[in-house]
Amino acid sequence: MSTPQSLSVFDAITQRRSVRGYLPKAVPEDVLRSVFELAQAAPSNCNVQPWQIYVASGETRDALRERMRTGAMTGRAMTPDIGFMPSTSGEHKNRQYACAAALYGAMGIAREDKVGRMQATLRNFELFDAPHVCFIGMKREYGIPMALDVGMYAQTLMLSMHAHGLGSCAQGSMGYYPDDVRQAFGIDDDIQILFGISFGYEDPSIAANGARTERAPLSETVQFNQAPVAFAEA
Ligand SMILES: Cc1cc2nc3c(=O)[nH]c(=O)nc-3n(C[C@H](O)[C@H](O)[C@H](O)COP(=O)(O)O)c2cc1C
Repeated sequence: MSTPQSLSVFDAITQRRSVRGYLPKAVPEDVLRSVFELAQAAPSNCNVQPWQIYVASGETRDALRERMRTGAMTGRAMTPDIGFMPSTSGEHKNRQYACAAALYGAMGIAREDKVGRMQATLRNFELFDAPHVCFIGMKREYGIPMALDVGMYAQTLMLSMHAHGLGSCAQGSMGYYPDDVRQAFGIDDDIQILFGISFGYEDPSIAANGARTERAPLSETVQFNQAPVAFAEA
């Protein structure tokens, strides 16, 4: 049954969360199509829709998972098209620590347990056992202005997945071996792979799925105007 559940926008936004453990059950083809059809409603500048999506299932997914997992385990060089996440500072760093603490806490991994943390990181390259992963690409010549569109698409896609009863996890780490993805799908080099999203049916028995993240108060992220503006002349 491919019809998405009718959810309020409020419910969809507040219920979605990152899922890092899945049941070994493939998503039916008609549901897959419906998920990506709905996500096409995402807005983009001049309606260009610059996202290129590559959905790996079955043998393609198995081969990519094995290739990336082995690469990560053996230290094969990671060459993300868009570089690694920059280091954060101030309150951003604090939130990053809190995010890691929530995940490792749920998984029962102590702060000083380096091996445990490494194994948890490796789970990224095992797709958290998701039966599907989609890679999100964009023409190499496009920069930040078009990446805005792709980001909006990605959240729309994850909400669509949620409305179809699927869990998902956005993964910057799925952009770390872009040449493998290009090879697997026969993608030209002029497409850069930005990141990926693992998805499928959540396995609620996986400890990592007990992790919950918090959000900063509005006072830290949103400024409402307060007084009449007096512009200084240039
Ligand atoms: C662009 C992007 C990249 C991400 N990369 C990863 C990743 O590589 N591995 C991972 O486990 N989670 C990743 N996440 C998930 C975030 O950690 C998660 O969205 C955040 O902690 C908020 O939690 P929530 O999704 O459960 O609300 C990523 C999220 C985004 C938006």
